[in-house]
Amino acid sequence: MRLEVSTTAPEEVATPLMVVGVASNRAFEELDGLDHAVGGVLSRAAAVGDFRGRKSDRVMGYGVAGGDGPQRVVFLGVGASESASAEDLRRVGGRAVRAAERHRVESLALYLGHLGGNVEERWVQAAAEGLVLASWRFEEPGGGPADDVGAGGRRVQRESGTLVGESATAIGESAGDQRKVQVASATLVGASAREWEEPVCIGHAFAEGENLARTLQARPGNVATPSHLAAEAARIAEEAELECEILGPAEMEAEGMDALLSVARGSQEEPRLIVLRHHGGEDGAAPLVLVGKGLTFDAGGISLKPARGMEKMKYDMSGGAAVLGAMLAIGRLGVPVNVTGVVPSSENLPSGTATKPGDVISSRAGTSIEVINTDAEGRLILADALHYASEWGPAAIVDCATLTGACVVALGRHRSALLGNDEELLGELRAAGDHAGEPCWPLPLDAEYRRQLRSDFADLKNVGGRPAGTITAACFLSEFVEGAPWAHLDIAGTAYGKTRKPYLRDGPAGIPCRLLLEWVRARAGV
Ligand code: BES
Ligand code: MN
Ligand code: ZN
Repeated sequence: MRLEVSTTAPEEVATPLMVVGVASNRAFEELDGLDHAVGGVLSRAAAVGDFRGRKSDRVMGYGVAGGDGPQRVVFLGVGASESASAEDLRRVGGRAVRAAERHRVESLALYLGHLGGNVEERWVQAAAEGLVLASWRFEEPGGGPADDVGAGGRRVQRESGTLVGESATAIGESAGDQRKVQVASATLVGASAREWEEPVCIGHAFAEGENLARTLQARPGNVATPSHLAAEAARIAEEAELECEILGPAEMEAEGMDALLSVARGSQEEPRLIVLRHHGGEDGAAPLVLVGKGLTFDAGGISLKPARGMEKMKYDMSGGAAVLGAMLAIGRLGVPVNVTGVVPSSENLPSGTATKPGDVISSRAGTSIEVINTDAEGRLILADALHYASEWGPAAIVDCATLTGACVVALGRHRSALLGNDEELLGELRAAGDHAGEPCWPLPLDAEYRRQLRSDFADLKNVGGRPAGTITAACFLSEFVEGAPWAHLDIAGTAYGKTRKPYLRDGPAGIPCRLLLEWVRARAGV
């Protein structure tokens, strides 16, 4: 989506759709110009009490004959401006795009001038995020990326539906199918819009990074394989001027990454370990390291999962997708700090060559692991990635992973779980999550839990039993982090699903891409 800013008076903006954020605590007369342009619907709705600027309030009107301003104006309540949050503005951005879809228009303007003279920068960034996130759709022909199919594909067929006189996106589609309109551009309008250029740019980059994560998540497992993720990483590196390094089985062997290799052993698809480096800080300065679980399909291995809902396990690479999306945005924005993204990627399938329950494997750290359950594979691939990253002398390591079903039981779908070895880092991530509207919540990581991982046959078991499953999983990870502040986000409940937010759709959510970006920018001091 293209974003612009404009200081033109809103009633003079020529647009098929002007969306207006209306504060409940401010005089509606400030919107008289716009109200007149649509025949006074706002003042009439306000007079009978239907519109008071509450968050659920909405009223729309059509441009009066002969006017060359907006063809349609939608007034959206945002509540009292003094208590508005970034999330409220993100929702307004999302509601604006949904309005454009409903009216089948490809561009819109969003007026935020009613929120007060000093619209905060974080609000502007959030509105931009809401617009760009809401405009995301997954519609790759045949479920694969565009370059995987021949030129044309389904799109050609659609055009042969020949309905003359409609816009390109509307051709051949039923009138009720609002999802088929691609909202391609938006203009943020306000008196101080020129100062909004930077926050708009940041919000745009954050949301495009997260949208990339969602696209990678949405791709089916037969398309988004480990080598596909590696190819995408190489493409991101090109686009965002990052350094890209890919390890295959031979390099993993040389590195002693037996834990990662043991998970990949059941599959025909080769594993990959993706490393993306952004050199935004001083040469040699300790990097921030982002690690994401890139398990492209988790059948459970020999400890096979039940069939019901197993198709969702294509999303088991959500952490990796979020890290790749974050690296794209970090590179594009040129954030002034060194950041390294790491994505260990594998499938987890049963086969005659697969690791079996009871097998004892090694790891890069030299720690031996008794594999009790081959479905606890995420911690195995992360163990080697975390140990690898520890050697770079990082300023901090943050990993994110769809790691445990227990996390969904503990926190449901509204918060990711947060665990780690450094209180300050945990505080930073809590704040970043709140700012991003991707909140997380701490769970304890006391030493007592480690006892559940004791094995009779190896240094550690890969599962700690049913009690405190999310905690014992993090406990396992902590064993492979050496000498660095580290935090872990379990995103099993939040990375995808029914989000019911106006700026998202059901399905992949890209979480915690923007949380990571907020944190990285905060650490960079920008
Ligand atoms: N990828 C799953 C965790 C998961 C479950 C993510 C549900 C999203 C939704 C992970 O690899 C897994 O299978 N974990 C097991 C661990 C258990 C065997 C100790 C789990 O949570 O059941
Ligand atoms: Mn599993
Ligand atoms: Zn998994």
